[in-house]
Amino acid sequence: MESILVTGACGQLGSELTLALREKYGSKQVIATDIRQPAHCLHNEPFELLDILDKSQLQKLIDKYHITRIFHMAAILSAKAEDNPLLAWELNTTGLLNVLEVARNNNKIKIFWPSSIAVFGPSTPRSNTPQNVIMDPDTVYGISKLACERWCEYYNHHYGVDVRSVRYPGILSYKTDPGGGTTDYAIEIFHKAIHNEPYECFLADNCRLPMMYIDDAVRGTMELMDQPAGQINVRSSYNMAAISFTPGELYHAIKEKVSSLSISYQPDFRQKIAASWPESIDDTTARKEWGWAHRYGLEETVEVMLEGLKA
Ligand SMILES: NC(=O)c1ccc[n+]([C@@H]2O[C@H](COP(=O)([O-])OP(=O)(O)OC[C@H]3O[C@@H](n4cnc5c(N)ncnc54)[C@H](O)[C@@H]3O)[C@@H](O)[C@H]2O)c1
Repeated sequence: MESILVTGACGQLGSELTLALREKYGSKQVIATDIRQPAHCLHNEPFELLDILDKSQLQKLIDKYHITRIFHMAAILSAKAEDNPLLAWELNTTGLLNVLEVARNNNKIKIFWPSSIAVFGPSTPRSNTPQNVIMDPDTVYGISKLACERWCEYYNHHYGVDVRSVRYPGILSYKTDPGGGTTDYAIEIFHKAIHNEPYECFLADNCRLPMMYIDDAVRGTMELMDQPAGQINVRSSYNMAAISFTPGELYHAIKEKVSSLSISYQPDFRQKIAASWPESIDDTTARKEWGWAHRYGLEETVEVMLEGLKA
């Protein structure tokens, strides 16, 4: 019987991942934790306040609930991280190291930790970016994610810690607000569309980025964790892709359903971050090694986002 702890469970990904895990394993088996109180959807289920920088509290919860899997989702995202680089570095790297350390001392614990397409940088080939390639991130978020990828591989190779990871692209969802990433525009525009308001986009109209609907991200995450350890050859982080589009293309796809939508472009500091990231990702290794396959294309994503927000 798995006993699962989710950090950052109140966030955009953590909240939906927690609900999906509870659906699969039963509510009592999935302990949601965060530094802040949960939204209504996570109430009345096991929830514990946990600052991931507090290693002794983490250890107490591991012991209290006999934890066998940790999904470590707490982090500061790309755009927010630039406001406070040292805090972002501390939270993103020390938070992961605390999780890796408790797993090193308890070999029953399997870890999932998400990396990001932000590990790539201006010198990385932007189209169909390979699994192994030059990486020179120039955001504190990307630097912290790349360092963490190296730590994951180190703990696996040196201590046998079973840690697994994917490089998420921008995640689209409608149930919670996005957490301050560079791809948040792709969620904001849907909110404007259903309220019949014009949208001012903070990226340029032709800025192509890899994206994914949240159900694909959550399902892929759970599938990766269910693979036999021998199948997982990449212990840094797997490229994982679904769709790639520009703000202009997303606007036209939404406008087919919401004809009143209008858009203007006012690129800000986030455009520079986005311009250093890949346009599309080659995720052949993940598809071959553990059968990753996305289900939501752009059209399906637009449909489910609009329907969900209206509901
Ligand atoms: N959302 C995306 O588009 C995206 C893309 C690539 C990678 N990721 C990665 O996925 C993970 C989850 O992202 P998300 O979008 O859900 O982020 P989010 O910002 O929505 O949620 C992060 C959560 O971490 C919590 N948190 C912050 N400081 C904490 C601390 N000290 N201790 C414990 N919890 C703390 C926050 O309260 C928040 O609920 C992160 O590692 C992120 O880097 C996300």
